[in-house]
Amino acid sequence: MTSGELRQKYLDFFKTKGHAIISSASLIPENDPTILYTTAGMHPLVPFLMGEKHPAGTRLANCQKCIRTGDIEEVGDSTHHTFFEMLGNWSLGDYFKKEAILWSWEFLTDHEWLNLDKKRLAVSVFQGDQDSPFDQESFAIWKKEIGIAEQRIAKLPKKNNWWGLETGGPCGPDTEIFYWAGDADKVPAGFNDDHPLWVEIWNNVFMQYNKKAGKLEPLAKKNVDTGMGLERILAVMNGLADNYQTDLFKNIINRICQLSGQTYGKTPEIDKALRIIADHLKAATFIMADDKAVAPSNTDRGYVLRRLIRRAIRYGRQIGIVNESWTKEIAKVVAHDYQAIYPELSRNINKVIEQLNVEEGKFNKTLEQGLREFEKIIKQGSGKKISGKQAFDLYQSYGFPLEITEELAREQGLSVEVEAFCQELKKHQQLSRTASAGQFKGGLADAGAQTTKLHTAAHLLLAALRKVLGEQVVQRGSNITAERLRFDFSYPTKMTDEQKQQVENLVNQAIKDKLIVDCQEMSLAEAKAFKAHGTFESKYGERVKVYMMGNFSKEICGGPHVDNTGKLGHFKIQKEESSSAGVRRIKAILE
Ligand code: ALA
Repeated sequence: MTSGELRQKYLDFFKTKGHAIISSASLIPENDPTILYTTAGMHPLVPFLMGEKHPAGTRLANCQKCIRTGDIEEVGDSTHHTFFEMLGNWSLGDYFKKEAILWSWEFLTDHEWLNLDKKRLAVSVFQGDQDSPFDQESFAIWKKEIGIAEQRIAKLPKKNNWWGLETGGPCGPDTEIFYWAGDADKVPAGFNDDHPLWVEIWNNVFMQYNKKAGKLEPLAKKNVDTGMGLERILAVMNGLADNYQTDLFKNIINRICQLSGQTYGKTPEIDKALRIIADHLKAATFIMADDKAVAPSNTDRGYVLRRLIRRAIRYGRQIGIVNESWTKEIAKVVAHDYQAIYPELSRNINKVIEQLNVEEGKFNKTLEQGLREFEKIIKQGSGKKISGKQAFDLYQSYGFPLEITEELAREQGLSVEVEAFCQELKKHQQLSRTASAGQFKGGLADAGAQTTKLHTAAHLLLAALRKVLGEQVVQRGSNITAERLRFDFSYPTKMTDEQKQQVENLVNQAIKDKLIVDCQEMSLAEAKAFKAHGTFESKYGERVKVYMMGNFSKEICGGPHVDNTGKLGHFKIQKEESSSAGVRRIKAILE
């Protein structure tokens, strides 16, 4: 079965069940600063899952293009991708568990549709916890209406059978369908979701809660959000253990093989490189071809894009691609293969080629020298580490994203002093919040409610200062007691009374607006790209917490914070004075 046939079949099936077919939304989320790229089919539909009326009705089906970079290190195996397509059917307050389950089963197993062997299928349901009960209803549907043996129905915790965005919003228990990808005569009687040959193919999410400030509230209308990864189900349909052998990758891999003189399926290391290149350049092509233009840069979405392109170039070189400007050749194949489904690819291909040429040119200029520099470091090096300063020089002078240096180091059995690298980066970018992190840690360990409130107020204060005095303002330190907040920030001159008043008003308005304080965990690189303020002190690649207060403030921070700014009371600046050259100090209280 081809990918084209599979997409069409899925949409046709749901058309027969009264669904309107909607087109894929952009990869760049609309009006949502909390996320860089569209990560799931549900993301563009959040307002409708929250109760807004969708113009196409209450039953929808689509194929949504998605980008997930959280697993970028995993790309290179047979199933992980940064770009993928998600097939989804949606009930917006219309049908619920019974229809969703019966229809997914019908589509997968009916001979008119996918005709998968029922004996190879197993499912999981939510086992229940303090937030939400065991999903008895789904369990009963699978067992009684579909007739699945009980030992093929796993009851699993939130970690497995719950879905929602990390930032909050609509969520709920889910039920997942798994396919045995091993030999037909070796299908186990029971089901173990950890076994690599049991592959998840479909997720039915029953969105019945709204997660707000960490708490679950029932939604007025219950929804269904489903997701089936096209690449994976296509591999299953064609009996392939490797998504990269499907028609969604075949031409791309072939082109990379032509350029490099390599063959796919012979050596694991070469396959890994071929997959990474195919995946990254496909993702980069889709990002740049999106009508909401994104170009490679050092911040935000552009940084994610830059990493994808540069990583692909580096792997290309590693497997023997010598051309000066080759990435566009892959983009052309991507555009050719996908343009019938995503017309923006042919519409914008010239822009994509141009941007790839520019980015490749920039990186090529320094790549050679950077690699020479890297070798010098290795030769001169003592011990097993690349220092933070050396890694930073490679980043600064030769445009090596840290992960490239880390990969090169790993190949030599070395590691990189990541923390020291981040220190250098911080020094350079002036992103310092100096001792504040440490002081917060110590100062807040035994803190009561008042210091927590003042800590939240400090975030609002920094955001307000930046709005009034300009984006160049960065935090230089802070000290909190139960009585007051002391806050140092970079600014050359004394603040005027009017400026102080404006800052105070902004903070008090944010308090009045009762902004939800939400916390999202992400990688440091994502936090940076997401333009969260804060020290980038923790290890690169490590997860950091970003605290968001509505759209008003986002900062990397370990917490704690109150869950709603409405709890703070009245904010008052008591004093504004000089702290040291170029640094001002504010003392403030909550009344
Ligand atoms: N939103 C669900 C997922 O991404 C369907 O798995």
